[in-house]
Amino acid sequence: MTAQNIGIIGAGQMGQGIAEVLWLHGHTIYLFDADPVRLELAYQKLRERLESLINKGLIATDFKNDFLDRLRVCVHLSYMSTCTLIIEAIIENVDVKAKLFSDLSKIVDNACVLATNTSSISITKLAQHVVNSSRFLGIHFFNPVHRMPLIEMVPHQGTSLDVIEYMKGLIESVGKIPIRCADSPGFVVNRLLIPMINQAARLVQNNIAKPEDIDLALKLGANFPMGPLALADFIGLDTCVSILTILAKDCDDASYVPTEILLDYVRAGKMGVKSKEGFFKYV
Ligand code: NAI
Repeated sequence: MTAQNIGIIGAGQMGQGIAEVLWLHGHTIYLFDADPVRLELAYQKLRERLESLINKGLIATDFKNDFLDRLRVCVHLSYMSTCTLIIEAIIENVDVKAKLFSDLSKIVDNACVLATNTSSISITKLAQHVVNSSRFLGIHFFNPVHRMPLIEMVPHQGTSLDVIEYMKGLIESVGKIPIRCADSPGFVVNRLLIPMINQAARLVQNNIAKPEDIDLALKLGANFPMGPLALADFIGLDTCVSILTILAKDCDDASYVPTEILLDYVRAGKMGVKSKEGFFKYV
């Protein structure tokens, strides 16, 4: 696939990971975040990643300037006006995402493909805020992006076939594997995974077992590579709560309502790996 100008909005753990994969595959990245500190941090982390690949001999030093030239930090969304694809990876909040897509629609060309990395929000609902919504779809990456091969491709009913084919080509060209699924709450992976995390949290809340033992049980008894509570910390407990809240509402199923212990952790600022504490502590 030819190199493109790709905008990434949200420079948190997912936006940074998505930017890295596309950048390392030759695309020019326009990165934006509403929080300048997060944006600067992501830029520094991406530079460090480049240095480490150069030090390991995986990228020739001669290409360093080319890479740096293709990594552009944007202080305003309008800097993305030349992009042919923009991927949104901001917080999991329907109103904030809806406003962003409505603002973006005024800035970019009508042909620019717009995608969301939402974990659970209805693509159909977000499409209502996109001008020319046939160019809009969900592409759901997994964390950490550079290691996880799967991407869920979630078109809404009006997404054009050309856009679906284009996205499939792009995903495959960066070594990822797409599955296509209909727009439904939590898509495939989170519909199955996040309720299990909620149940694991409930076991902690009810003092049935310690977090270490719950994770060990699933690793040794069900052959999971990682326990559900460590995975929850990795995803971000705030993100888990947001997804559960959306699942509970959209599926009209109270068993998806986040457990108190998850809400307590989030209220206390314990978001998991990104804040250095969740069910477990991280240095
Ligand atoms: P994060 O909390 O690490 O990053 C979110 C970023 O969005 C922050 O840097 C924040 O400053 C920025 N932001 C918030 N509002 C903004 C706005 N209006 N404009 C621009 N930037 C804004 O969150 P994370 O984990 O990167 O998640 C981002 C999205 O990716 C969410 O929709 C989440 O559901 C989804 N996702 C998360 C996965 C995970 O494992 N954490 C996996 C797959 C998808």
